[in-house]
Amino acid sequence: MWGGRFSDKPAELMQAINVSIGFDRRLAAQDLAGSKAHAAMLQKTGVITSDDARAILDGLETIGAELAAGTFPFREEFEDIHMNVEARLRELIGPAAGRLHTARSRNDQVALDFRMWVREACARTGEQVRALQRALLAKAEANAATIMPGFTHLQPAQPVTFGHHLMAYVEMFGRDASRFADAGARMNESPLGAAALAGSSFPIDRHMTAEALGFARPTANSLDSVADRDFALESLAAAAICAIHLSRLAEEIVIWMTPQFGFIRLTDAFTTGSSIMPQKKNPDAAELIRAKAGRLLGSFTQLAVVMKGLPLTYSKDMQEDKVPVFEAFDALELSLRAMAGMIADMQPIVENMAKAAGAGFSTATDLADWLVRELGLPFREAHHITGAAVKRAEQLGVDLPGLPLGDLQALEPRIGAGVYDVLTPQASVASRTSYGGTAPDQVRAQIQRWKERLP
Ligand code: ARG
Repeated sequence: MWGGRFSDKPAELMQAINVSIGFDRRLAAQDLAGSKAHAAMLQKTGVITSDDARAILDGLETIGAELAAGTFPFREEFEDIHMNVEARLRELIGPAAGRLHTARSRNDQVALDFRMWVREACARTGEQVRALQRALLAKAEANAATIMPGFTHLQPAQPVTFGHHLMAYVEMFGRDASRFADAGARMNESPLGAAALAGSSFPIDRHMTAEALGFARPTANSLDSVADRDFALESLAAAAICAIHLSRLAEEIVIWMTPQFGFIRLTDAFTTGSSIMPQKKNPDAAELIRAKAGRLLGSFTQLAVVMKGLPLTYSKDMQEDKVPVFEAFDALELSLRAMAGMIADMQPIVENMAKAAGAGFSTATDLADWLVRELGLPFREAHHITGAAVKRAEQLGVDLPGLPLGDLQALEPRIGAGVYDVLTPQASVASRTSYGGTAPDQVRAQIQRWKERLP
């Protein structure tokens, strides 16, 4: 009696800890594609008969239809997606189903399925990053000359344009897209045919399956093929970096939305109210995007820790590779789409930005540069005189353009009225014409360059 219970209970727990169909069902399409390519190759190389191959391929076709219709029975007793598909195939076509697994193991099968999933995720995410870049470009183009303060230490530093600021993110997201593309290209080798770990004794054609599944080539080492998940880690690293960029932009949106800054407005579409404070309009989407960076970094860390101590080759630990990747890409794709929506929705409050751009003596560097350019002073000396001018303006309670000429001349008698031409934020911005600088024409040139690059 108790012996039966004793042996039963661990069996249930064993299934509970072992089962992965709850999450690896997301690999169903990849698993089917891999099995079709494998079956066709087994037939071509004479490992299985044409009759068996036809039965297998027909059965896989039926399974594909069931998956599309949502009628495929995912069953926990068959543990994972690979065994679920094979069990269903057996129900549909009988014993011939058992020949599909010739010259294959679940180890190369899962490595294949997962690679294909991650390859697709990188391509899809790259496209979403580009969509976000397009939203930023449109907003930047409309604001190539909209003056705002540029910050260092979150202190007013020098005036810039809002378009220039947004274009900084276009650059960051451009590198993110290229990281996804690089990762996608590097992982584009087929592990199918590595079998359990050592390769196969059957005359399989790994180049044929690689080509059928859109890979550049088969992997070159069977042990590596089933043992590594660096393609997933690399994609998660790219995803985490992208999430960090999103988080910084989200943080700026939160700051810009505060009444204290008052730089932007979001419509009701991308804000929420408060259940108690009727006046509130909160940038919840931005806050949630900011928080998702934690999830993304967690996903990378999670998989890195799973992998770091594993001896070659496959260990069941690696079944835990999928959840962090699925969660990371789900969160990232949602964040990218929400951010693109928010950027399109966001409107700058131009007067507030302009007012803030002139505050904090933000054109002090322009005064120092003028002293160097017009009077031939060494920059350090010009810096010192400008510091004294800022101090004087502070005493008088005026901004730099409001400082009387007499006060400036008390510091350096050769200063003339022409200096006032460079002390406005507009003049400051217009003068930054160096390549990549904030002068509106430079900003427009960069917008044009990106428009040509973005499909
Ligand atoms: N469900 C497994 C995974 O995700 C498939 C590979 C199982 N291989 C094995 N040797 N038990 O990793």
